Amino acid sequence: MRVLVTGGAGFIGRPTVQILAAAGHDVTVLDSLRPDVHPAAPQVPGGRLVRGDVRDEDLVGTLTHDADVVVHLAAKVGLGVDLGDIVDYVSSNDLGTACVLRVAATEGVAKVVFASSMVVYGEGAYDCPEHGRVAPGPRRPTDLDAGIFDPRCPRCDAVLAPTLVAEDAPLDPRNVYAATKVHGEHLLSAWVRETGGSAVALRFHNVYGPGSPRDTPYAGVASLFRSELAAGRPPRVFEDGGQRRDFVHVHDVAAAVGAAARADTAGFAALNVGSGTVTTVGGLAEALAHAVGGPEPVVTGQYRLGDVRHVTASSARAREVLGWHATTSLADGLAHS
Ligand SMILES: NC(=O)c1ccc[n+]([C@@H]2O[C@H](COP(=O)([O-])OP(=O)(O)OC[C@H]3O[C@@H](n4cnc5c(N)ncnc54)[C@H](O)[C@@H]3O)[C@@H](O)[C@H]2O)c1
Ligand SMILES: [Zn+2]
Repeated sequence: MRVLVTGGAGFIGRPTVQILAAAGHDVTVLDSLRPDVHPAAPQVPGGRLVRGDVRDEDLVGTLTHDADVVVHLAAKVGLGVDLGDIVDYVSSNDLGTACVLRVAATEGVAKVVFASSMVVYGEGAYDCPEHGRVAPGPRRPTDLDAGIFDPRCPRCDAVLAPTLVAEDAPLDPRNVYAATKVHGEHLLSAWVRETGGSAVALRFHNVYGPGSPRDTPYAGVASLFRSELAAGRPPRVFEDGGQRRDFVHVHDVAAAVGAAARADTAGFAALNVGSGTVTTVGGLAEALAHAVGGPEPVVTGQYRLGDVRHVTASSARAREVLGWHATTSLADGLAHS
């Protein structure tokens, strides 16, 4: 297969290109090498790197001319909370995706794989003992001060139990970056309806591993813990450390992208890509401390009102549709990154 990978010089892109090339595909990479991501030009083994922007439709047209699949990873990542960056987010992500899809339609590309994110959900999924699946209300400072960190049922006030988010959960993007990922998925759906092509939006969870960028919603807490440990200090864990996340190794994510590029899917599918293992933020701090033989973490009870309490995914649908599942445990992944 001929595959164009946009953003293929990035953290997730590089191992993705390697996996596709190792499977015998002909891989071209289009990457603008954003200076805020790449202080130095990266090596991209396995792919032919073309430096350019996904918003350059002529260039994308030349590169997709005989492509079978476009894997669209290029995006401005970051935290997405500074409104000073809103134009860059919307231009890089929304307009960037629009350009890729327009060219893919003109050139008759049959399949697009898109890097979406767990941030489309906003919060995780919760069950009330009385009312079943409910959307939690905002957490109250009085609860948080009393050490009650789990949100309450909006109908009966019972403390809710976290469960796994499946792809049909309501979308609730809470910042600009998250909004661009939801919009990207909607544009993909429209492309599928108009062209009859197939598209897969992979909702990556917290991706970690070699080359992990800092200052993203995904790596944030792990890179903070690492910096504290590197300075010989114990990692400081907010709340009670019981915040649930899904950390998935970048090699597993790259394998999911490869599987999605090959899979014979029809229409539009959104799939969670997580490890399938629930890790708490406290557990992550412990694992990182053990990996480097550093001091035990300190659980501080401090909180930030806007923090999401739990987001963990069910990745069962990706296993069903792509025949893919993650194989790297957190302990192994941390030991080798
Ligand atoms: N890292 C995670 O945990 C995570 C989780 C969920 C989703 N994602 C998504 O996965 C994708 C890859 O993320 P990553 O972590 O590898 O980030 P990254 O910043 O390392 O990679 C993104 C790449 O895209 C390139 N790029 C950005 N704008 C471009 C443009 N306009 N034209 C061409 N190239 C451009 C950058 O130079 C960079 O090499 C992104 O779409 C991101 O939103 C990442
Ligand atoms: Zn209830």
